[in-house]
Amino acid sequence: FPARSLAGEHVVLTAGPTREAIDPVRYISNRSSGRMGFALAAAAARAGARVTLVSGPVALPTPPGVERVDVESAAQMHDAVMARIADCTIFIACAAVADYRVATPADAKIKKNDADMALALVRNPDILADVAGGAQAPFTVGFAAETNDMQANAEGKRRRKGLDMIAANWVGRPGSGFDAEDNALEVSWDGGSVALGPSPKTRLAEALLEVVEQRLRDKQSQ
Ligand code: PMT
Repeated sequence: FPARSLAGEHVVLTAGPTREAIDPVRYISNRSSGRMGFALAAAAARAGARVTLVSGPVALPTPPGVERVDVESAAQMHDAVMARIADCTIFIACAAVADYRVATPADAKIKKNDADMALALVRNPDILADVAGGAQAPFTVGFAAETNDMQANAEGKRRRKGLDMIAANWVGRPGSGFDAEDNALEVSWDGGSVALGPSPKTRLAEALLEVVEQRLRDKQSQ
């Protein structure tokens, strides 16, 4: 992967899961390890970009040359991204952001009793859609984590959110997606697509960034 190919770009990425508090000691979350997003951040820094990585709670070291911002909830991730998006030229949403949060998190630990319990959930803001829909939007890349109808679901997300590109992956099966070392991506944009992998997330990150760079240059020359 060419060493200076992303020089002059400011890449902002999200990675990892979010945690949505139920009470001070409990939360709703998912199986994202952050590996895919951290591999992308590392590869973008190696390619010469300025890199800002907004990460949910993960157990990974910060890649060299990357500015890292740690957050917990989707609302915090949304605010952290929006505060840093003004001079961003490439935005990659790799985080597994909770679509819902608990309507009213309890101030104190919830005590059990013999009754069943229901949690009321409300929608979280969509970080990716807000970035893509903003004025002066950067080149915007979304991910789609799917357990069925991957291509159709990913294409729907790309169009609905107004993205330049979407990278779809299978989740809930061994060898790809959440918490795996390897992954495979079906990458698509308006008028084209390419399949990448299966390969280690580190190598896949470089391959995806090459495709991003090509499409960015094409968009700039239009
Ligand atoms: O972290 P790993 O263990 O390495 O696993 C990698 C991964 C499987 C998490 C990653 O490759 C991946 O697929 N990330 C996206 C997971 C996801 O939440 O997908 P989604 O189809 O639900 O969301 C679609 C897109 O919208 C994603 O780019 C997501 O970041 C974004 N989104 C979703 C909801 C929201 N409120 N804000 C968002 O920005």
